[in-house]
Amino acid sequence: MNNKVLVTGGTGYIGSHTVVELLEKDFEVYIIDNLSNSRIEVLDGIYAITGKQSEFEKFDLCDQDRLRTFFKNNKDIGSIIHFAAYKAVGESVEKPLKYYRNNLLSLMNLLDGMEEFHIPNLVFSSSCTVYGQAENLPVTEKTPIKPAESPYGNTKQISEEIIQDTVYSSKFIKSVSLRYFNPIGAHPSALIGELPMGVPDNLVPYITQTGIGIRDFLRVFGNDYNTPDGSAIRDYLHVVDLAKAHVMAIERLFEKKSTPSYEVFNLGTGKGVSVFEMIKSFERVSGRKLNLKVLDRRPGDIEKIWADTRHANNELGWKTESSLDEAVKTAWDWEKHYRKSNL
Ligand code: UFG
Repeated sequence: MNNKVLVTGGTGYIGSHTVVELLEKDFEVYIIDNLSNSRIEVLDGIYAITGKQSEFEKFDLCDQDRLRTFFKNNKDIGSIIHFAAYKAVGESVEKPLKYYRNNLLSLMNLLDGMEEFHIPNLVFSSSCTVYGQAENLPVTEKTPIKPAESPYGNTKQISEEIIQDTVYSSKFIKSVSLRYFNPIGAHPSALIGELPMGVPDNLVPYITQTGIGIRDFLRVFGNDYNTPDGSAIRDYLHVVDLAKAHVMAIERLFEKKSTPSYEVFNLGTGKGVSVFEMIKSFERVSGRKLNLKVLDRRPGDIEKIWADTRHANNELGWKTESSLDEAVKTAWDWEKHYRKSNL
């Protein structure tokens, strides 16, 4: 087994946690990241946790010549985990071409490189956003794909199709698309975590920033949904559990001997948690009370979604290990640690 893995977007939130898990399983890691939404210091955190270095190159995957040069110089790579992409739903509505160009071109350049340099394994970072508001819950991998709610979501749908078509036309490329539900939390060491630039879009970083006093109050987007407490429901999973699934997906691709091979897995806990339940979890683990303001629903938000995890449990042999409170505690520890060392 060739244990050299290229991780694109490896200094980002999920990417950095995945690099840690790969290094701890003795994979050799190459990271490509243009640092458009992450910081170079993340590499220090990864090294502090694992005691191992990964190779790092800073460039944009849309630069095909640069990527070819990278592959020419590193002919020993056997697998790619592709995280690098823009991910802000709201921005993608305002600047759709920025999202289509970046997210699709980078993927196509990678696939060209895989063909040319004979790299067999690709794990793709996809999202439960492809399901939209599903009629039946929990959602399985067979739940119908809905027209995307945003250009960002559309890039995930189109990317999955591009990969699938490429796998079916290729003699050797195998791929797994992982559809994440809502990743939260940080490495238990608090040495790496989520680093939102500016005002966070996502619930948990907004909660921890409110808890530490950077934000005056938490905006609760809607309390009139058709859910037990009126707030929206999501399936929040610990980012370390999610990172481990990537290592298992790579191992599974090595085991697949015949092509074409393309698989999709939902990654979640299987349990829905409302915004108010998340707030209670934070208040339990932090001992702090949050100021709340209930506002209108956020445009584009769905009411509720959670995963049917049986396919990932049975086929990938993966399931989440952390409870909600454990995951939220790591997010809070990271917030405190990060603010102490950066203020
Ligand atoms: N929410 C608040 N206040 C906030 C932030 C969020 O009440 O300050 C609520 C949202 O309205 C939603 C829930 O918390 O009901 C979760 O919101 P997030 O922004 O954390 O997560 P989303 O489920 O909206 O988005 C995530 C990813 C997207 C992906 C989407 C797929 O961040 O990239 O899941 O469903 F497209």
